[in-house]
Parts: sequence; structure tokens; C-alpha cells
Amino acid sequence: MDTRTRADGIVVRSAQAGDVEQILAMVGDRLDENGVPDAAATLAGVDGPGRFVVAVDGDRVVAVTALWQDRVRVGPTVLPSGQIDFVASLAGYGGRGLVRDLMNMVLARSAARGDLVQVMLGIPYFYRQFGFSYVIPLPTPYELRADADLAVPDGLEVREAGPGDLLGVRRLQDAVQAGYDVAMPHSDDTWRSLAAAETVAFRVVNDGSAMSGFARHKIGAGQAAGDGPHDITVAEVAAIGVGPVRALLADARTQARGGNVMVKDRPGAAVSAVLPAIGLAHQETDRYMVRVADPVALLDALRPTLSARLKASHFARESGDLLVSYYRGAVVLTYSAGAVTAVRSAPGQQGPVAAGGIGVPPDVLPDLLFGPHGAARLEHLHADCNLGPQRTLADALFPPVAADVLTFYVP
Ligand SMILES: CC(C)(COP(=O)(O)OP(=O)(O)OC[C@H]1O[C@@H](n2cnc3c(N)ncnc32)[C@H](O)[C@@H]1OP(=O)(O)O)[C@@H](O)C(=O)NCCC(=O)NCCS
Repeated sequence: MDTRTRADGIVVRSAQAGDVEQILAMVGDRLDENGVPDAAATLAGVDGPGRFVVAVDGDRVVAVTALWQDRVRVGPTVLPSGQIDFVASLAGYGGRGLVRDLMNMVLARSAARGDLVQVMLGIPYFYRQFGFSYVIPLPTPYELRADADLAVPDGLEVREAGPGDLLGVRRLQDAVQAGYDVAMPHSDDTWRSLAAAETVAFRVVNDGSAMSGFARHKIGAGQAAGDGPHDITVAEVAAIGVGPVRALLADARTQARGGNVMVKDRPGAAVSAVLPAIGLAHQETDRYMVRVADPVALLDALRPTLSARLKASHFARESGDLLVSYYRGAVVLTYSAGAVTAVRSAPGQQGPVAAGGIGVPPDVLPDLLFGPHGAARLEHLHADCNLGPQRTLADALFPPVAADVLTFYVP
């Protein structure tokens, strides 16, 4: 496989079963206390250690990174994608380029299997160095007020989900995510890993025999095994109506045993209608990071989505070429009769507007395609994003999008 020995003798390679204990020890040392059970559940998953890459000094594991396989839907197009997490190097081994090597390895792996985008969260600034941009706003967390009135309609019962509930849970998630322009569902493997993690609880509401709501609980660092208060973050709430949402939040308060309950908003979903009256909104400024390595391949894959947007715009009957220069390269979109019919690469244009096109710097492309701004707003935010006379077409093809992203790690 892709094993490499560095000049300093440290070997960078896929993790193996014999590395598991050391990986967990390092995660415990470098990440929060929940890192260990979360990583243990992931390491026990279908891909197991194969999802992790490690740097090894002799027989000592000194750095680690994990890569999941996911899908990101943009309108009607589903894109293969990668999610990266559990990034750490051992104290004393920092600043030697070990995580750089591991990131390069997982990014090459992700590209080789055909992923068109990578998504992650984490260490401020760090991942910009590997081509990630801050793009998708994280949901606003609401602190459940102690006096919140959570009268639960009769007949609703909340319980721990079992393995047989997963299909119903996924149906509820799919129904919520269908309302978003961009959605990243959990993969089968991530569902399994989450279900196995002791820091995670899946709660479902039953209305008679039908499942009418789901919430994922993340239990505070180091509290999962104890009998004391649990600080619970309630995320991914998917419910049919506000009754089941109230039942899930009342249940979270009970499960917390006096601990704090934070609930992640999901704009447009039932939970969002309930939260402002019963919770205190906290400020959230972090964003999911997105990386686009090959804009030409990505835009080509996105043709069904771009065509649908074009068809719904007043360019539906027009035809032509749109040059999108990202300065280090360019892509030309050919459109005709409400469809983007071809996407080809072209040399980067320093003056794309003069050449009849638009200019979007490479680190802004992820926001153009997955972010909440859209082309016109990005032109105001970035001096090197230039739309010129193609502004209206650019805005039709690249509007602001609302995204719902489910990651392994709930921040
Ligand atoms: C942050 C961390 C992963 C960096 O690991 P590392 O082995 O020092 O990383 P590298 O040496 O490969 O760094 C790559 C580059 O980033 C720089 N860098 C290191 N830490 C950085 C940081 N926190 N912010 C910005 N740049 C950083 C390095 O100087 C290096 O730059 P260079 O290539 O120009 O010399 C490591 O310090 C760590 O394990 N932190 C705690 C774990 C954690 O918080 N993980 C997040 C969970 S996802």
C-alpha cells in the first residue's frame, strides 16, 4: 500500500490492528475525553483501523488521522466525498510535518477513490494549509432554559433506539435533509460507529407504532460512564411536527439529570419552530471546512444541478460559454436550452472579466458551490472575486445555498 519512510526514519502508513491501543492513547492525550470512546467505536467499525493512517517511530505511533467515506448532495447531484477527523500528533513530535504527511496521504487516498470534495471541522486555521476553506455555517446552539415549558402531547413515548430502528431514523433524516440545497447524510458505516460509541445516544419518539422523531445525544466529555449529571448536546433532531420535538427535548432534560442541555438548531425543520421560545441562542461562528481539489471534475459532476438552476432562470432559452477563471486554472461551462452541456478546463485568466468570464479565487470556490453567500455576495466579500457583466448568469448558476451537514463529531 502507500507506506512511506521519511528522511528521519519515521514511517507513514495505514493503521493496523496492532496500532489500536496506541492510537487510542494518543487520542486520549491530545483530543477531549470523548475522543477515546469515539475513536474506539470507529476503530471497531467495518473498515476498522484501515480508516486511520499513522506515523510510526520504531514501534511507537506518533501521529494519526482518519478518513471516512461520505456523500454530499447538491441539488439533484450526489458527490462522493471524504470526511477527515481524529487528527493529532504526539506531544514532542509536533512541528515536524507529520500531520502534513498524514493529511497528504488521506487527501491522496480520497482523490484516488474519486471523492470530489472533502469536509471537516477543527483546529482553527490549520487546515487552510491543506486547501480547506471555512464554508458551511454550523447550526446555532440553544441552551434549554431550566423553566422551559415542554408539555408533551399524550401518547408519545421516547426511548433508546435499537438496531431495528435505524431504517426509520434514516427516513426521518432524509425527509429533513430533502428540504436543503446541500446535504451530507451519515454513511452506513458512520451510523454504525455512532451507535457503538458510549458517548452517543440515539433517542426516538414513538407515536403508537410509528416513529415520529429522532435526536442524537452527545454526552459531555468524561461523563458517559458516570451516574452524575450529563451535559447533553442534542443534535440532528428530525421529527414530524412540534409534538415529537417537545417530547425529545423533555426527554433530553430528564436524561441530563440536572446537567446542561444544548440543542442544535436545524433551520426549516420542526425543531427550529420550537427552540426560540424555550432556549437561549448562543453565538456560533465556526463553519464546516470544505476542500475542492479539482474544480473541473467537480463542476462537470454538478452539471445536473447547474442545468436545473439554469432551466429555472431567465437564461433557460439562451446558449453560450461561461469562463470561470480560478486564476491557477479555469473552467468553461457550455450551456444551451436550459442545460449545461459541457465542462472543460482552460488556462487560467488573470483578467477573466475582460475575457468575457468571471474570476473566483480557488479558496473561494468551495463557498461558491457549498456556501450561504452565492456569487453576487462573494463579489462583495472578496476583492479578487469578479463577475463583471456575467453577474446575473453567475448568480443564476451559483446562488446562496442552505446546507445540512451531519458529521461524526458534533462540536
Ligand atoms: C495541531 C496538530 C495536529 C499539529 O500537528 P503537527 O504534527 O505539529 O503538524 P505538522 O508539523 O505536520 O504541521 C504542518 C504545518 O502546520 C504548522 N502548524 C502546526 N500546528 C499548527 C497550528 N496549531 N496552527 C497553525 N499551523 C500549525 C506547522 O508549523 C507546519 O508548517 P510548515 O509545514 O510550514 O512547517 C497537533 O499539534 C495536535 O495534535 N494538536 C492537538 C490535537 C487536536 O487539537 N486535534 C484536532 C482534532 S480534529
